[in-house]
Amino acid sequence: MLTLNGKVAIVTGGGTGIGKAIAARFVAAGAQVVICGRRVDKLEQAAAEIASGPGGDNPLALQCDVTDQAQIQGMVRTVTNRFGGVDVLVNNAGVMRFDELARADDQTYELLMKTNLWAPWRCSTAVIPHMKNRGGGSIITISSVAGLRAMAGAGLYCTSKAAVQMLCQTLALEHAPDQIRVNVICPAVVEDTELSVPIVGEDGVPEFYNKLRVCHPLGRNGRPDDIAEAALYLAGDASRWVTGTTMPVDGGRMLTSNRPKII
Ligand SMILES: NC(=O)c1ccc[n+]([C@@H]2O[C@H](COP(=O)([O-])OP(=O)(O)OC[C@H]3O[C@@H](n4cnc5c(N)ncnc54)[C@H](OP(=O)(O)O)[C@@H]3O)[C@@H](O)[C@H]2O)c1
Repeated sequence: MLTLNGKVAIVTGGGTGIGKAIAARFVAAGAQVVICGRRVDKLEQAAAEIASGPGGDNPLALQCDVTDQAQIQGMVRTVTNRFGGVDVLVNNAGVMRFDELARADDQTYELLMKTNLWAPWRCSTAVIPHMKNRGGGSIITISSVAGLRAMAGAGLYCTSKAAVQMLCQTLALEHAPDQIRVNVICPAVVEDTELSVPIVGEDGVPEFYNKLRVCHPLGRNGRPDDIAEAALYLAGDASRWVTGTTMPVDGGRMLTSNRPKII
C-alpha cells in the first residue's frame, strides 16, 4: 500500500480541481498537507471537504500568491516552523489562456510564464534547503500534454509547460546528489477543474469537455483523482529510484494524432 505517513507535503493551488484531489489523496495516505492559493474561501472550503473524507485530517490552508517571492518565502517559513520541515512539494498552481501567437499580448505572456514556470522554479528553490535538511524529498510539477505537443491557438500555454518540464529535468540532475527527486506529470483534459473557465466561461465548460472527450483513446476525459494517484506514487517511497521523468497521465492522448479523425 502506498503511504505518506510522517511526510509533510505542500500542494500549490490546492483549493480546487487537481490540487484539491492531490491534497485529499495525500491526507488519506497519512501526510500532513498544506494547501495554498490566492482565494481563502476556496482553500477553506477544500480543507473542510478533505477533513470530512478518508484520513480525516484537516489540511492547513495558507493564502499565498505563488507569483510573489515574499509570499512564497513566508508560506514555506510558516510550514517549516509549524511542522519542522518539508518532504514533498507539488507545483500544481497554474493558469491557461488561449490565443494565436500573432495576437497574444505581453500581459498574457507574463501571466502564463510567471505562474506556470517562474513559480515552480521559485517554490522549488524555496523548499530545497529544507528537503536537504531531511536527507531528501520529492518535487512534483503538474505540467500538461500541451507541453509535449504544439497546439494551435495555445502557443504561450504550451511554451510555459514545455519550459517547466526542462526546468524540472535540470533540477532533477542538480539535486539528485541530495536525494531530492523531481518529476513531472502531464495530464490531458481533466474535468471538475476551473482551468478552462477564463477561456470558455462557466456556461461553456460542459461543451468544452464534450468536444475534447474524443481526443482520449480511453474514451473519457480525466478526473482529478486520476492525477492524484500518479502524484501519490511520485511523492512516496514506491518511486524512490524515479527522477527526471515526464509522465503523461492522459487517457492515451499522446498516442493520438493532432489531426481530427475523419473516417
Ligand atoms: N484541467 C486540465 O484539463 C489540465 C490539463 C493539463 C494540465 N493541467 C494543469 O493542472 C494544474 C491544476 O489546474 P486545474 O486543472 O486543477 O485547474 P484549477 O481548478 O483552475 O486550479 C488551478 C489552481 O491554481 C491556483 N492558482 C492560480 N494562480 C495562482 C497563483 N498566482 N498563486 C497561487 N495559486 C494560484 C488557483 O487558485 P487561486 O485562483 O485561488 O489562486 C487554483 O486553485 C495546472 O497547472 C494546469 O495547468 C490541467
